Amino acid sequence: MSLLIKNAEIVTPDERYVADIFCQNETITRIERNIDNVKADELIDASGKYVFPGFIDPHIHIYLPFMGTFAKDTHQTASRAALVGGTTTFIEMICPARNEKPIQAFELWLGKAQGNSACDFTFHMGVTRYDPEAEAGFTEIVKRGLSSFKIFLAYKGAFGITDEELYATLTLAKKLGVIVTAHCENADLVLELQKKFLSEGKTGPEFHYWSRPPLVEAEGVHHLMTFAGLTGAHVYIVHTSCEEALNEAMRGKQVGVNVWVETLIQYLLLDRTSAEPNFEGAKNVMSPPLREKKNQPILWKALADGSVATLATDHAPFDFTQKQMGKGDFTKIPNGIPSLQDRVNLYFTHGVKSGKIELQRFVDTASTQAAKLFGLFPRKGAIKVGSDADLVVYDPNYRGKISAKTHQMNLDYNSFEGFEIQGRPHVVTVRGKVAARDGEFVGEFGRGQFLRREPSHF
Ligand code: URP
Ligand code: ZN
Ligand code: ZN
Repeated sequence: MSLLIKNAEIVTPDERYVADIFCQNETITRIERNIDNVKADELIDASGKYVFPGFIDPHIHIYLPFMGTFAKDTHQTASRAALVGGTTTFIEMICPARNEKPIQAFELWLGKAQGNSACDFTFHMGVTRYDPEAEAGFTEIVKRGLSSFKIFLAYKGAFGITDEELYATLTLAKKLGVIVTAHCENADLVLELQKKFLSEGKTGPEFHYWSRPPLVEAEGVHHLMTFAGLTGAHVYIVHTSCEEALNEAMRGKQVGVNVWVETLIQYLLLDRTSAEPNFEGAKNVMSPPLREKKNQPILWKALADGSVATLATDHAPFDFTQKQMGKGDFTKIPNGIPSLQDRVNLYFTHGVKSGKIELQRFVDTASTQAAKLFGLFPRKGAIKVGSDADLVVYDPNYRGKISAKTHQMNLDYNSFEGFEIQGRPHVVTVRGKVAARDGEFVGEFGRGQFLRREPSHF
């Protein structure tokens, strides 16, 4: 199996130049100005297009038992959507129930992805309980190829952990060289505010925002910074939504905490009015909630200047029937939106085309940084001889619109319905094989590989 891409304008964080790319089996084997003396099974002319390394989404949920229901995508529907949108690798959160053994959870999630996913995948191991048995399980899981943990400072009584468990998790992570990804919101404040609003008869989806205001998120980040500072663990704040939370992370960084920040495409483009004014708004209920518009330029700037390292989705799809579980009580609306398919095109359109994000920084924040932070670089996130042939031949002249009617995710709505897209992947390859072409999935379910990763955050 061989693939030749001619006249590629290769764009990575460090380089931008025109060349041909030759891939033998699953790997990039040659990058030269003119490669004419080979016979390739597949030839792609990339004239007038960019060629990016496959995009990486470092924060998604597929198999997600949550708030009394399950997220709607399967590893087939999610990977299909990811590939059509240019994402060739994703990192899913393993979210065990507190009484579940970590090893069993790891095997459960791995079993769901293996044989189904069309793109490559790995996991952040959810630490939703900490005791000696769980500790042994986490240590074993790191040996089996996971090098990142996920913790929730929110969702008390479900995935949330205590401060004692937080301290133990970060201490273990530091010892093992594992980076800890964290959902930062003060769980007790959320509970108190939820009780207050419900007792006042304020039950609609708009009160989700008021029960988790920016200060609740900022307190969560501050809390994490304190614990990370004391243990020396490396931490990654997921789904940062507002200025207050970002400031706490930057303060942590200033005093020497090893911290990286992620934001999501939805926080850049949607604001809290998308979760109002009637129950339809439940479709856009997520945690942390969509914020006031004034946060958006701050997040864009932080992405551009490096304060924010990565742009992810936190893809967590629940359909409108599931969202109705929260009719009359906003605390029961399953949290999350679908966005896995649309992240790259929306980011390109509203970031690069509008001049907010430089093209190479776009690649860095949507691919390379995640590869570097989570132990995948230079196999992923790079266009180098020896890297996996995960390539996105991107057409910047495509024009279209996002719609649930045409998307590949298994969901009856799209939070970005009607948004214009200026650019989309023309061809997407996974380890040398074409998996998507002009909005169509042409890949193979089950071809996706589990990516083993080594710890590097000592
Ligand atoms: O609302 C969200 N973010 N749902 C998914 C679970 C999580 O908190 O990441
Ligand atoms: Zn979260
Ligand atoms: Zn999440």
